[in-house]
Amino acid sequence: TRVALAFSGGLDTTVCVPLLEEEYGYDEVIGVTVDVGQPAEEFDEAEETAEALDLEHHIVDATDEFADLCFEGVRANATYQGYPLGTALARPVIAAAILEVANEQDCTGIAHGCTGKGNDQLRFEAVWRDSDLEVIAPVRELGLTREWEQEYADEKNLPVEGGSGGDWSIDTNLWSRSVEGDKLEDPNYVPPTEIYNWTDEPSGETEEIEIRFENGYPVAIDGEEYDPVALIEYLNELAGSYGVGRTDSMEDRMLGLKVRENYEHPAATTLLNAHEALEGLVLTQEEREFKQLIDQRWSKKGYEGLVDAPLVSALEGFIDETQTRVTGTVTIRFEGGQARAVARDSEYAAYSAEHASFDTESVGKISQEDATGVAKYHGFQRRLANSVIDAEDE
Ligand code: ARG
Ligand code: SIN
Repeated sequence: TRVALAFSGGLDTTVCVPLLEEEYGYDEVIGVTVDVGQPAEEFDEAEETAEALDLEHHIVDATDEFADLCFEGVRANATYQGYPLGTALARPVIAAAILEVANEQDCTGIAHGCTGKGNDQLRFEAVWRDSDLEVIAPVRELGLTREWEQEYADEKNLPVEGGSGGDWSIDTNLWSRSVEGDKLEDPNYVPPTEIYNWTDEPSGETEEIEIRFENGYPVAIDGEEYDPVALIEYLNELAGSYGVGRTDSMEDRMLGLKVRENYEHPAATTLLNAHEALEGLVLTQEEREFKQLIDQRWSKKGYEGLVDAPLVSALEGFIDETQTRVTGTVTIRFEGGQARAVARDSEYAAYSAEHASFDTESVGKISQEDATGVAKYHGFQRRLANSVIDAEDE
């Protein structure tokens, strides 16, 4: 009997290998690492650890698929409690890729090393429980702690030393890097700069770039076209060098637990800011207002790892319709750790400089004077209501 394991080569997934044999009775464990744009060192680490464990190891490339999903996230301005969704969007992509390998390799079980406290267990299992495979969560089911895992690994001589993660639990993909655990669990502990890997300390330098969107999708930077993966990689490097895209927050997880999370997401911050700036130019006020509700719902399903829910397709119907006009360019200035939109241009602008300008008195059939009637009515009900309240108070 064979079981496929979501494998990173970190402590959690490494101890899962012998445990799946000892505690769950599988004859053979297959490690699967899915490429969603992690740095090369992570694959080296996974390969080395797999080799030392004598583990059959598969690497599956899902970077293009993941980048496409990130761009759907851009169109939905996808954030959760103020940071761009990253880990959450990657999980269903990873889970589906592992399930595919598990089926190809005639596995009867499928396992992850997530804890019973986090979100990732829910996101993985939502995908896996669509299948008939036995879903196994050793860390949760055996109630493992990191301390126990470390001792077990020492005892069994498992190759866990010197992982790139150090003391933190790190999750990286093309869109964001998350760091949590250990000392960071104290919300009052100021993170040391070594937790950051993608972002430099902001310097006094500034730079402007022009990002082009078509139908809400980012397609080019400074006139040069990029495919999604290359565009994200390019921006992570550039915006990261200006210190753009750090979040330090108390996050409310799906189970209700609050956790301290640190994130880096230079490209995501840059693209989300640019996209919102372009929407501000082309969408009507009521579209923008209503789209916030749509975006929030999309983001919630994204956070839950349920981007294939029927609700999401329905929301995307609205998003598609609005994004037909989100075509144009935005100039972003990197400055002081920010990526700020400083100019925007579109053939679909719902804007008339002539009408809005302080310098023109009347345009076509509208003049300043026409607002007098509106001004008289504005706040009318409140005036009536307040006068009744005032009368009662006397
Ligand atoms: N809490 C975040 C989320 O739910 C990120 C968790 C990432 N995992 C990690 N081991 N750092 O998306
Ligand atoms: C974990 O608990 O395994 C990682 C964090 C998360 O799933 O939210």
